[in-house]
Parts: sequence; C-alpha cells; structure tokens
Amino acid sequence: MAKHKTCGKLIMNNTLYGTDIISIADLQLDQINHILKTAAQLKAKPAPDLLQHKIIANCFFEPSTRTRLSFETAALRLGARVIGFSDAENTSIKKGESLHDSIKIIANYADLIVIRHTHAGAARLAADVANKPVINAGDAANQHPTQALLDLFTIKECQQKIAGLNIALTGDLKYGRTIHSLIQLLALFDIRLFLIAPEALSLSEQFANHLKKKGIKFSFHQSIEDVIHKLDILYMTRIQQERFTPLEYQTFTEHYALNPACLHKAKPNLKILHPLPRVNEIPMSIDNTPHAYYFEQAANGIWVRQALLNLLLNK
Ligand code: CP
Repeated sequence: MAKHKTCGKLIMNNTLYGTDIISIADLQLDQINHILKTAAQLKAKPAPDLLQHKIIANCFFEPSTRTRLSFETAALRLGARVIGFSDAENTSIKKGESLHDSIKIIANYADLIVIRHTHAGAARLAADVANKPVINAGDAANQHPTQALLDLFTIKECQQKIAGLNIALTGDLKYGRTIHSLIQLLALFDIRLFLIAPEALSLSEQFANHLKKKGIKFSFHQSIEDVIHKLDILYMTRIQQERFTPLEYQTFTEHYALNPACLHKAKPNLKILHPLPRVNEIPMSIDNTPHAYYFEQAANGIWVRQALLNLLLNK
C-alpha cells in the first residue's frame, strides 16, 4: 500500500512511489518493467543527486555481504546517507525490545527502511508498522524480491530478451528464498523451466501449482548434464549445510555441483547465474569461461537497488 502521507502527491506514472517491496506477488508486470527500465537508465547514465537529503536505514538482523553493501553503495551513489546496523546484537532488540517498536522508532529517523530478518514475515510486519517505505532484503526462507529483480535484469541483459528462454533452476529449490521470488517473477513471462534438485530439495507443491496456474511449462530433473545442451540460463543456488547430515550434504553438493566438463555440451549463449555466496556449486575454473555471469549479476544489484530506492522515494 502506498504511504503517500509522508511522501506527498501521487504521480500516476510512478505507481511504486511510497510503496513497500515485500514480495514479488505484490508487484504488477508494468511496475516490474518500470524497475528494469529505470535500472538500465541508471546503469547507462549514473544520477548522483537523485536522493540528496534522503536517509536510508539498512537494518540487517542476518548476515549479508552483497545485499547490504549494494543497498548502501546504491544509496550513497545517489546522494543519500545511510544509517543502520549489520548485527542486531548491538541494538536494543538485545534488551528485549520488539521488532514492532524498533521499526516504529527507525521510521522516525529514516525516509526508507531496508530490512533483512531471520523470521519469515518480519519484513511484512515492518511494512505494516512503518509510515515509510520498507524493502524486504530477505526474510528467512520466504522471499528475497530485490535479488529476483536483479536476476531478471541480468537475464535480460545477457540474453537481450526474456521471452522464449530455457531456464534451469538448480540446488535448493525448496528452502531457497531467492528461488521462491524468482519463480514468481519468471512466471510472469513466456519462458520454459527445468527444475534440477534432489528429491529432498524439490520445488514445493505451492510453487509448482503456481507455475501450472500461470501456464508455465516446466519439468523435474536429477542432473544438470541431462539438460545443459538445451539451456540459455543455468541458475545455481547453494545447498544449506545446516539442513542435512554431513553425508547427505556431501552427496548433494557433489551431485549438484557444476562439472566443468559438461560445459562442452552447452549452447554458446549459455550464461551461469548464482545469487552467491557459492560454496562448492561452481568450481573457480569456470569463472573465466564465457558462460560465467555471476559476478556481473552481483554488480547489477547496484542499479536495480538504485532503481527501487529512486522509484519508492521520488515521485
Ligand atoms: N545474494 C545475497 O543475498 O547475498 P548476501 O547474503 O551476501 O546478501
């Protein structure tokens, strides 16, 4: 819901102004296209004064490298200032203050709140409490909408289109929040999905049903090698070690790691993406192949997050 009370009059052509970014499901296709277009414009022509006099609060209750630092860089390079924390142990949460009260206070200090939290639904709660726009920077295994938007921006950038692409998602399809957000986003486009995961980490019925409802063609596979020759995008994710016994973890990571030898079967335009951090999924020997695009993907986080900050804060 738009929070126009604090942001002034709504201008019809920016429907994101004053809103929250909590889940991909909340966004309309025209808003998504607006974000991608704005990100491309900012990448082509940086705008150092767009957020002058604005203050962004980066509230990270869970570890992060890319998301926190790229939001901070995005804000600073648009002329905003940044407050916040990367460890809730140093906040009054430690003294027993509720998330509700903490967010209410922070909303008095900043023009926009970016929150990453260990509990699914925490970002939604923050958005309900705050009278300023809130961006979900990842809430447990639920959603990571800004990651999915930068993934889509990167797919479009490296393939020059989205429609008609063959896209494989592999790794932890069950618990991965980046996968949950990306599935919802890709389901808005005419693409074909290949879902590659061990049984224990297979896509949940809820998301499979969502794909069916949206008319997206998809199939389940046990091995990257079986489908690599068909792919335009291979999107890999990390298997979370803490969810499995050491033996299960070793089996999964060995089986779902990308074998450099199988790239010989890949189409020339195949690009490998990964939200990072990687652990064992992609050997470093792949980094210098023309298929590796995960570092460019991480760099694109700056432009997509700049686009979001700009659209939420500027009419
Ligand atoms: N992709 C991603 O969310 O990375 P961080 O956990 O480092 O922010």
